[in-house]
Amino acid sequence: MDLIKAIRERRSIRKYKDKPVDDNAIEKIIDAARWAPNAGNYNSWRFIIITSSAQKKLLLNFCPGIDDMPAALIVICAKPKQKKLKEATRLMYMADCAIAAQNIVLTAYSLNIGSCIVVSFADKALREILEIPEDVQPYLMVTLGYPRETPEPPARLPISEITYRNSYGKEWVK
Ligand SMILES: Cc1cc2nc3c(=O)[nH]c(=O)nc-3n(C[C@H](O)[C@H](O)[C@H](O)COP(=O)(O)O)c2cc1C
Repeated sequence: MDLIKAIRERRSIRKYKDKPVDDNAIEKIIDAARWAPNAGNYNSWRFIIITSSAQKKLLLNFCPGIDDMPAALIVICAKPKQKKLKEATRLMYMADCAIAAQNIVLTAYSLNIGSCIVVSFADKALREILEIPEDVQPYLMVTLGYPRETPEPPARLPISEITYRNSYGKEWVK
């Protein structure tokens, strides 16, 4: 699949068919995630894949950002190298997880699997349910499943409004 086309046409999917996503497809998606750029090449990501119906149901009680039952959920965590995290370091791990999430949603799209990145979840409940150790931080979730909707592309600001040349506020002119 053409990369630019995938970037333009992928949409966040929030309604899913009641159809499982094959483990091989999930592994392809995680393989793409681990090839993402990452700070220091620490490979600090840890991915928890949730496919059990009981576990998904339980989790959804603590994820207001998820409307419909997905076939699977990926919780993207970081296991930092450092014991105590400065704010800048915490943001570095967040960036690693966000970039991995982008690889996840694009790879899912290339396999005709819908996805949505989710940040609204209750950290404490998630940690308890998934038995996440203290030194591991869950940053993002991604829902996965076969789409039951075809959303229209939401608006994006034009390039001229978000892009400057040489200094902030200086018009970008080709
Ligand atoms: C960091 C992040 C957090 C998000 N959290 C949620 C969420 O909690 N619930 C949700 O339905 N969508 C969530 N989204 C999806 C965005 O709403 C979606 O990407 C945006 O509306 C643009 O739509 P598109 O992905 O179809 O282009 C999130 C996306 C990102 C990148």
